[in-house]
Amino acid sequence: MQSMSPAPIVSNSGPLLVILPGLGAVATTFIAGVELARRGTGAPIGSLTQLGSLPDGLGVQTPMNTALPLAQLDDLAFAAWDIHGEDAATVAKRSEVLHGAHLAAVEPFLSRLRPMPGVHHPEVLQNLEPVDICRLQHRREQAEALREDVRRAQKQAHADRAVTVFLTSTERKQRETAAHQSLAAFEKALDRNDATITPTQLYAYASLKEGVPFANGTPNNSVNLPALHELALEMCLPVAGRDLKTGQTLMKTVIGPGLRARLLGVAGWFSTNILGNRDGAVLDDQEAFRSKEATKKGVLDSIFQKEEHPELYSSLSHVVNINYYPPRGDQKEGWDNIDLFGWMGYPMQMKVNFLCRDSILAAPLVLDIALLLDLAHRSGMSGMQEWMSFFFKAPMSQPGLDPVHDLFEQQRMLNTVLSGLAARHAQQRREPLVAEARTTVRTGTAAARG
Ligand SMILES: NC(=O)c1ccc[n+]([C@@H]2O[C@H](COP(=O)([O-])OP(=O)(O)OC[C@H]3O[C@@H](n4cnc5c(N)ncnc54)[C@H](O)[C@@H]3O)[C@@H](O)[C@H]2O)c1
Repeated sequence: MQSMSPAPIVSNSGPLLVILPGLGAVATTFIAGVELARRGTGAPIGSLTQLGSLPDGLGVQTPMNTALPLAQLDDLAFAAWDIHGEDAATVAKRSEVLHGAHLAAVEPFLSRLRPMPGVHHPEVLQNLEPVDICRLQHRREQAEALREDVRRAQKQAHADRAVTVFLTSTERKQRETAAHQSLAAFEKALDRNDATITPTQLYAYASLKEGVPFANGTPNNSVNLPALHELALEMCLPVAGRDLKTGQTLMKTVIGPGLRARLLGVAGWFSTNILGNRDGAVLDDQEAFRSKEATKKGVLDSIFQKEEHPELYSSLSHVVNINYYPPRGDQKEGWDNIDLFGWMGYPMQMKVNFLCRDSILAAPLVLDIALLLDLAHRSGMSGMQEWMSFFFKAPMSQPGLDPVHDLFEQQRMLNTVLSGLAARHAQQRREPLVAEARTTVRTGTAAARG
């Protein structure tokens, strides 16, 4: 019996347009870093696709960029939506993430990127004054305008392929309603201008309708709704999210599995942060913070699995705070106090003080997500991509299944899928050589027969 080989992975040649709703600190730090890496003056540290490796068939580690047919940095083009109307250089300067030399080097490049006017619904976003927005009022018209923007941006970039990585501010926590439960209900809700359809959902809808894979880097529900998952499947597009796993939560999903592996008990985990960037200002609105709190608080339950060890984890108290503190800008500081207990119940404490840089940790994730989502699309993968959980605070999971939060388990899932794709790619590269060798042998045999 002949085994069916999977369809070939579509070529990575030609430009890939990365569309960024939300041209803020993370988006501009990401674009600046890509441009500096292309010039060889900025190292893409923290990026799996640029620095990581995969074992080849013989167990030899091969750079990921060689093992997989990823889009190349030189082939990336950028487009964005925002509501502030500022070009990327102005945003980068105001965000104070990059130092002067980096900023000066990329300023002319960044200043050429102006955002397309975004869709703004004031009731879901406080603490920000919009300047340049889409003037249409009806949600159906707004969705069509966003679709038109995607088509225009792809045409301008001469890009047959695009991916959207969603990076707008955190919306106030939204209710899921009947309008979100199926694609048909969502379409009807758009037609009647249903108030429960928010901008973050419109961006996801417009991208998917235009055949563009979508990742949600924010705590917003955006693509994380049954209606939009249905659309992704219908359009054969991969989707991933939500909320980039960067500072404190990254550490939680590293330390937590370690304590669990040693079967040490945890009575409490108190996490607090100070943060002074725009994201912090938006999260100062308690309703927006509730969205963030939901994605930050979910991580410990699946790591500790208290049902298996109630004596160790059932009384765990998990508290998360974010405090807006302007002097700190993007240089977030997180404190964690962990109350744990060991042999015969003796108590101990662990303190973690992470002085991080929010956008510096987030930018490489945006790059990896964009490249891997494009690869997934070219490989024929569609719907939610659980193997991309590695990058997210609140990863997607199939209905009825718990999301995986343990960073090492997430890495294993990621490597399994990527190794499979690398094997497919290697076979694809070998096939023309094998066919050529067969032709040579046949020609040689025929010649020998005279
Ligand atoms: N920095 C991190 O480490 C990190 C980690 C995880 C998640 N995130 C999330 O990523 C997002 C971006 O973070 P940031 O630090 O770049 O914030 P930011 O405030 O610098 O940028 C967000 C941008 O979104 C824009 N925006 C708001 N509503 C919009 C709309 N309706 N349409 C288009 N644009 C809109 C804002 O004007 C702003 O420019 C936030 O939701 C944040 O919570 C950031």
